[in-house]
Amino acid sequence: MNNRFWRIESRPEGNDFAGALALVDAPLAPLAEGEIRIRNSHLSMDAGTRLWLTSREDGYQPPLPLGIPMTGLVLGEVTESRAQGFVPGDLVRAFGQWADISTVDAVMSGAIVLDPSVADRRAWFGPLGMNGWTALWGVEQTGAAKPGERVLVSAAAGATGILAVQIAKLLGCEAWGIAGGAEKCAYLTGELGIAGAVDYKAGDVGAQLDAAKTNGSGFDVYFDNVGGALLDQVLTRMNHYGRIAVCGLLADYSSGTRTAPAEFDQVLMRRLRVEGFFSPDFMHEGPALTERLRGWYEAGDLVMPYDVTRGLENTLAAYAKLFTGGNIGKVIVELEQ
Ligand SMILES: NC(=O)c1ccc[n+]([C@@H]2O[C@H](COP(=O)([O-])OP(=O)(O)OC[C@H]3O[C@@H](n4cnc5c(N)ncnc54)[C@H](OP(=O)(O)O)[C@@H]3O)[C@@H](O)[C@H]2O)c1
Repeated sequence: MNNRFWRIESRPEGNDFAGALALVDAPLAPLAEGEIRIRNSHLSMDAGTRLWLTSREDGYQPPLPLGIPMTGLVLGEVTESRAQGFVPGDLVRAFGQWADISTVDAVMSGAIVLDPSVADRRAWFGPLGMNGWTALWGVEQTGAAKPGERVLVSAAAGATGILAVQIAKLLGCEAWGIAGGAEKCAYLTGELGIAGAVDYKAGDVGAQLDAAKTNGSGFDVYFDNVGGALLDQVLTRMNHYGRIAVCGLLADYSSGTRTAPAEFDQVLMRRLRVEGFFSPDFMHEGPALTERLRGWYEAGDLVMPYDVTRGLENTLAAYAKLFTGGNIGKVIVELEQ
């Protein structure tokens, strides 16, 4: 039996993914002991995977080798299993391949059997998935947000950010977002009802952040998905003893640059705590995080718009949206079944 998949041919330059990945068709190898086969129904597009496509060796995981299928989170049904705890028909989420069919080691891929009674299975990527875990952990644990505090989130209209602003609000904080464009900012304040949104593509971000101050008070927590120049603007608007939860560094992913904050001295001047966090480090907390997220999700308090592209052959266009800002909410590729 053959399988179509996206193979990494070279390291992408900027957002030229078509120049680096190729859709190929090859026979499936027999299943090894411990492996499962998943018929992918959905692929999750995650901005952090852009780092895995670079050649840098000092990241939080080694670069993906050239010549292998592109790795990413997938949802789908098990069609074949040689792993304990997985039987054909199970709905699973795993780190699989951008392919029609994923073949994974059940343990190494973090495969988990999902409750099929959740009506919209895409939620297992968003509110009930890694984005949900990351948002909740970053706001509550790393950011240590307390009720009444002012929490600012960058890339706030993307999958992780949309959940982070809602969770901040649910925890009793005053939530603010930074996003690119009036439509995204209107979504955040109108649909989600957060306190305010700053459009970083519309002129002076510093002035907009100053206008967001209340009685001179800036922000207690910054959930940062971006880094770069935006971080400098926020550093000078943090309240004393504030926390910066470093979730991602989108400003540097496509260019391969590494920006150092020019305003770093504010960490001392304002006695800030700056801490990075990484979801695989708290994977073991997944079930407990999911339970809390599911409570909010089922009550209708945690919502997620989906940006859906159909067809494996269109995956690269979906992926590029993460870096050009083409999405509101979770970017997903839906595959024909
Ligand atoms: N630490 C962890 O464990 C962990 C786990 C999951 C995700 N993350 C991080 O979370 C962040 C969001 O990832 P995601 O997969 O949820 O993607 P996403 O937020 O759905 O999409 C990325 C969004 O970021 C914005 N963006 C892109 N380039 C930007 C730039 N140079 N400056 C400002 N904004 C930019 C775009 O919206 P605009 O129109 O607003 O520009 C885009 O829609 C990433 O940094 C990712 O690495 C971290």
